[in-house]
Amino acid sequence: MHNKVLILDFGSQYTQLIARKIRSLNIYCEIHPFTISADKLYSFAPKAIILSGSPYSINNNETPKPDECIWQLGIPILGICYGMQLMVAHFGGKVQPSAKREYGLAYIKIIDHNELLADLGNREEVWMSHSDAISNLPECFSVLAETENSPYAAIAHNELPFYALQFHPEVVHTKNGIKILENFLYRIVNLTPDWTAGTFINKSIEKIRSQVGDKKVILGLSGGVDSTVTAALLYRAIGKQLLPIFVDTGLMRYREADRVKETFSAYPDLNIRFVDAGETFLNKLKGITDPETKRKIIGGTFIEVFDKVASEFEDVHFLAQGTLYPDVIESASLTGPSATIKSHHNVGGLPDNMLLELIEPLRELFKDEVREVGTLLGLPESIVQRHPFPGPGLAVRILGEVDAQKVNILQLADEIFISELQENGLYNKTWQAFVVLLPVRTVGVMGDERSYEQVCALRAVDSVDGMTATFSQLPFQFLQKVANRICNEVKGISRVVYDLSSKPPATIEWE
Ligand code: XMP
Repeated sequence: MHNKVLILDFGSQYTQLIARKIRSLNIYCEIHPFTISADKLYSFAPKAIILSGSPYSINNNETPKPDECIWQLGIPILGICYGMQLMVAHFGGKVQPSAKREYGLAYIKIIDHNELLADLGNREEVWMSHSDAISNLPECFSVLAETENSPYAAIAHNELPFYALQFHPEVVHTKNGIKILENFLYRIVNLTPDWTAGTFINKSIEKIRSQVGDKKVILGLSGGVDSTVTAALLYRAIGKQLLPIFVDTGLMRYREADRVKETFSAYPDLNIRFVDAGETFLNKLKGITDPETKRKIIGGTFIEVFDKVASEFEDVHFLAQGTLYPDVIESASLTGPSATIKSHHNVGGLPDNMLLELIEPLRELFKDEVREVGTLLGLPESIVQRHPFPGPGLAVRILGEVDAQKVNILQLADEIFISELQENGLYNKTWQAFVVLLPVRTVGVMGDERSYEQVCALRAVDSVDGMTATFSQLPFQFLQKVANRICNEVKGISRVVYDLSSKPPATIEWE
């Protein structure tokens, strides 16, 4: 990949958005912490650098600063918010706390439609979020745009290819932000948009083949988007050398194993090993009600079962995982991974005695890119657009103790909700939706008889990455239909409620 852009992360909440916007312009980019060494920077060989925003103030002693070498590389640099202040301070300008803190929508007046702001109107809506501002602009810079409160909303160096913005072009509220990024990448840096799902697939296939040779690769297949796309890509590259293992924990969605079989029916020579471990998992969960203990038991049991099956194969040298780019960035971020509120167990650990090498073909991709790759590989839309599903599965959606009967009830209710969402064109409009079985019995009437059965809750949320979420505003008529069907068709449930909580303060799952 020649057209690479480096995003230096100074800790802004929007850094990932910059990367996603650049990728959407079909340019490859990577986020690295601002502490990246000069050596690493040279070997990455970016064609341009973007300096992100930051919660820090440039006038603080602890101010995060990049290696000075970035200013000597001779490549274009775009500073955003804190990145702008950093650039100005480097050239001897002054940054001070703003008289008036700017946060939210603002209008810029464009003074100079320089290449960076080409094709924009004279007045543009932008998103500001800063408490420091430039008070003294070095003479080597010119002003491209101003706002009522910021005389320096966009600037350009007079001789060097250095540009900076006080506002955030990466957020949706900056209406033509993407145009500004496009101008920077296409016009100023002169990049050709060559990062597409197709080129990614071709390059990955080559890379996988040369890495794997004639060895075998095992993979934990779960039915989710990431492991399914990983499997499809590996199959393209190495065919039958791929050995997928599907561990049915007995806590999965309705007919999940059959669905996986259907998905891969197009690859008849792919030998998926199905392991029905439902009883093992349910036995270990007997008497357990604490959510974190459930998670630990399920994670541990998964590793045991997976390792046992994996060790039966011969000649295995690799373990494939569906790791995505956000996981990679999170573990390398400035502040370390965000605080663990719930422990997450998706994949089994490496079997100790096997010394497997990891292979993670999706580790450069964002979720939307994984979906594009999946589509291009011919996977059905119903898989590619699937909602996320937690590793511990239905065990964290059955509040309290888990048993086979409750799993069965929940699977049926969940299937009704999900299939209704799909049939009514609402599935892709919600980020995640599912049913939760509550450990509460309630009185009802069924025919002439009094019933005393369980309550379930419908949960549907809108979100971007699951970190924050709001409940989905599904139409009442739709909810009524789902509730009627569940009460009529699922023996064991006689009352349905809808969850109106957002995250925070609630979480998406109930346990
Ligand atoms: P919460 O409930 O924390 O969920 O708001 C955020 C996202 O994470 C998923 N989730 C899990 N995924 N193992 C997983 O692999 C887990 O233990 C787990 N708990 C929550 C949840 O479904 C949502 O998409």
